[in-house]
Amino acid sequence: MDTIHQAATTVAPSTVDFLPLLGTDYVEFYVGNAKQAAHFYKTAFGFQSLAYAGPETGQKDKVSYVLRQNKLTFVLTTALRPGNLIADHVEQHGDGVKHLALKVKDATAAWQETTSRGAKSFMEPTKLTDENGTVIVSGIHTYGETIHLFIEREEYAGIFMPGFVEWKSNYNPAETGLLYVDHCVGNVGWNQMNPWVKFYEDVMGFRNILTFDDNDISTEYSALMSKVMSNGNGYVKFPINEPAEGKKKSQVEEYLDYYNGEGVQHVAIATADIVRTVSDLQSRGIEFLTIPASYYDHILDRVGTIDEDLEPLQRLGILIDHDEEGYLLQIFSKPLQDRPTLFFEIIQRKGAKSFGKGNFKALFEALEKEQERRGNL
Ligand code: FE2
Repeated sequence: MDTIHQAATTVAPSTVDFLPLLGTDYVEFYVGNAKQAAHFYKTAFGFQSLAYAGPETGQKDKVSYVLRQNKLTFVLTTALRPGNLIADHVEQHGDGVKHLALKVKDATAAWQETTSRGAKSFMEPTKLTDENGTVIVSGIHTYGETIHLFIEREEYAGIFMPGFVEWKSNYNPAETGLLYVDHCVGNVGWNQMNPWVKFYEDVMGFRNILTFDDNDISTEYSALMSKVMSNGNGYVKFPINEPAEGKKKSQVEEYLDYYNGEGVQHVAIATADIVRTVSDLQSRGIEFLTIPASYYDHILDRVGTIDEDLEPLQRLGILIDHDEEGYLLQIFSKPLQDRPTLFFEIIQRKGAKSFGKGNFKALFEALEKEQERRGNL
């Protein structure tokens, strides 16, 4: 009887996940020069060449390079001519994230469930087929010009997707230990956080698992508010930031100005050995925000005992925070392109499921120093 009762409660209608997600499938960036960007992501971050599509493969108007490192897949796409969606996106926003592609079992159901709840369709379920099988892709709009694609690829055995060929390169820099997307943060406009929280709740079945108001996230100058949205199984997490009033310009406002609208602020990438990964990235030229040495003075009083030696963490500028379930180590890159828009976070979780609230003050002071140097504070 108990078992039956258990089963009945777990399938109650309110708990059925109408949009089951298997994780992030890939992140696609629209960039000004995909060939050079691909070289950068290989050289600096240790991504491996995976697939290619362009004029040689019958795609006349754009070129895409697909890079992979463990479970992390990036697609870099550039337009070959002006006057199209890709070229216009780059003109408006600079290099940035266009598609946050989510892996699903059923891309048709994902599209139907979300559009019937109010999502604006970007692409109806579309079958892409080649000799290796079929991928079904559908898509909906989210904040700004960002798109969620739903990718169903269980019936596909090819290298990436129909239309792509394997990209073999003689240049294969060693990987840096990057594993998978931990979370992707969106910056939205004034008073737009709650409408987008409602979108993720109502349209995609996500839950608000954490909230930071401007008391949590403000320094003397910069302020923002943030709510973390998670899908049912926790594989996909999308924090949403909006600017808040401070003495001077919010870091989110600077982003909105330069991105010319709402978009992805940072992609957080997991590693199992942050000291090794960040040492590697720094030696390859990736720059991170630097924290005053005083940050480490009483850090262990705040976060408790950690497995790692403090010395390399301090030398590399890695931040530490904790919650009821454990601790986490994190660091934030400087912007990855000339516009002060998209950056990466590198994160190693040691039990903690939170997002580093204890580091916000030190982090935002470091961010403001950069903002000030750009004349945007
Ligand atoms: Fe983050």
